[in-house]
This record gives sequence, C-alpha cells and structure tokens, in this order.
Amino acid sequence: MKRLENKIALVTGGSRGMGAAIVQQLAAEGATVAFTYNKGAEKAASVAAELTGKGQRSLAIAADSADPSAVVAAVDKTVAEFGRIDILVNNAGIAVMKPFEDYTLEEYNQTMDINARAVFVGSQAAAKHMGKGARIITIGSCMADRVSGPYGTLYAMSKSALTAFNKGLSRDLGPRGITVNLVQPGPIDTDMNPADGAHADAQRKNISLGEYGKVEDIASLVTFLASPESGYITGTAITIDGGTNS
Ligand SMILES: NC(=O)c1ccc[n+]([C@@H]2O[C@H](COP(=O)([O-])OP(=O)(O)OC[C@H]3O[C@@H](n4cnc5c(N)ncnc54)[C@H](OP(=O)(O)O)[C@@H]3O)[C@@H](O)[C@H]2O)c1
Repeated sequence: MKRLENKIALVTGGSRGMGAAIVQQLAAEGATVAFTYNKGAEKAASVAAELTGKGQRSLAIAADSADPSAVVAAVDKTVAEFGRIDILVNNAGIAVMKPFEDYTLEEYNQTMDINARAVFVGSQAAAKHMGKGARIITIGSCMADRVSGPYGTLYAMSKSALTAFNKGLSRDLGPRGITVNLVQPGPIDTDMNPADGAHADAQRKNISLGEYGKVEDIASLVTFLASPESGYITGTAITIDGGTNS
C-alpha cells in the first residue's frame, strides 16, 4: 500500500517548478491530486496528461491566487470532483526582487495577495472540508528568517507572514486532528530562481552544500509531511536550504 492511497490533495501552482514536482510525488504515493495554475494552461495540461498516462485521476484548475474568489472556487471544484480534501499544499508564489525604492504599490499588493492572502483564504476554505488526519502544508521561504542580500525585502515580508500564520493555524486546527506545517526552501532551481541565473552565484556562496536544491528535494519533504508518518509534527517550520541560513 502506498503512503497516500485514497487521499485527496489540492496543490496551488502545480503547473511547473516545485508545485509540479509536488503534484507528481503525491500522485506517485497514491493520492488523487487537483492543482491550480494561472498563466500556464499548456504546462498544466501536460502535468495532468502525465498523470493520466500513469492511470491516475487529476484535475487542473485555472485559478489566479491573487483573486480570493478563484482560490475558494478551486477548493469547491476539488470537493465537487473528489468529495473532500485531505491534503492542501499552498505552493503558488511570486517573487518581485528589486531595490526597495522601486517597488510599486501594485507589486506590494500583488505579492501580499498571492503569497499571503491566498494562503489564508485557501486554508480557510479547505479546512471546512477536512477531517482528522488532514494536512495543510505551506511553502514559505528561508528568507522569512534571514535575508542575506538586497532586493528581497517585499518577498521576505510576504513569506514571514506565513510563519505566524502556520503557528496560529496549528493551534486552531490541532483539536480537529489536522496538522499544519511550513516548508521553507532555500535556493531551488526553478523558473523563479534558475541555478544559471544572473544572481545564482551570489546565492550559491551562501549555501553550505554549495549547490542549488532540486524540486524533488522539496517534493520529498512535502510528501513526508503529507504522510501518516508525520502525524505528530505540527506548527513547525522546516527549513530545507542546503545550509543557507546556518
Ligand atoms: N525557487 C526558489 O528558490 C524558492 C525558494 C524559496 C521559496 N520558494 C517558493 O516556492 C514556491 C514555488 O516556487 P517555484 O520556484 O516553483 O516558482 P515558479 O517556478 O515560478 O512556479 C510558480 C508556480 O506558481 C504558479 N503561480 C504563480 N502565480 C500564480 C497565481 N497568481 N495564481 C496561481 N498560481 C500561480 C505558477 O503557475 P502559472 O505558471 O500557471 O502561472 C507556477 O505553477 C513559491 O511559493 C516560492 O515563493 C521558491
């Protein structure tokens, strides 16, 4: 029996990057997975097609995390299709990196709406459909704890909101047997932060292990946190950054 057999998962931002790897690993462990995307309809379709090819059911949902009603609708569509939600992974996020003086109010709102508000709204909507043993797992960032260079002020601010949210929600949902945890990655090779990007070498200097992480590293940790083995872990932030923050 696979670790997540008969579980229903919803992953936000599952069309590429870490989210796509999380979708694939949860499904490989037996979960039926719904996932959202915003602009990447084609990539979302290919993630879904890969699952179909393996005989697994899935559901790709167009839902802009900046729009709270779309976030709630994604939860509702998942429940309408699969009956409930056992695992919510709040993964969708954006990073606008620039000198502090240059941020616009629009960038501030967009970042906070997607990185923080959508996590609040999506978790609230999903929790209504969760029972004992369910999981809420959010992808934050190691930058919530330590910002090692310039241009990350807004992003770090948006991710730091998740650390307190995670603690509070674990208290609210603990009595229902639902665990709530935060995964804080360091530099992971994705479109958001390519290992061959202009700012990669500066980040690499801070990584104890000397290399960027892979999306599978994050997906493995998320899968563990989603599994029955992690049932006594809640309210915790797990940093997975190759030693970036050490
Ligand atoms: N890569 C890193 O070094 C790193 C480090 C720490 C934390 N993180 C966090 O890890 C998470 C995943 O990052 P990633 O590196 O995999 O990023 P990515 O490669 O840029 O992928 C982002 C994913 O989120 C989706 N997304 C973006 N905006 C969205 C919106 N408004 N509504 C719905 N979905 C949206 C994208 O979907 P579409 O393409 O369909 O728009 C895509 O599937 C984010 O929360 C990020 O902040 C990343």
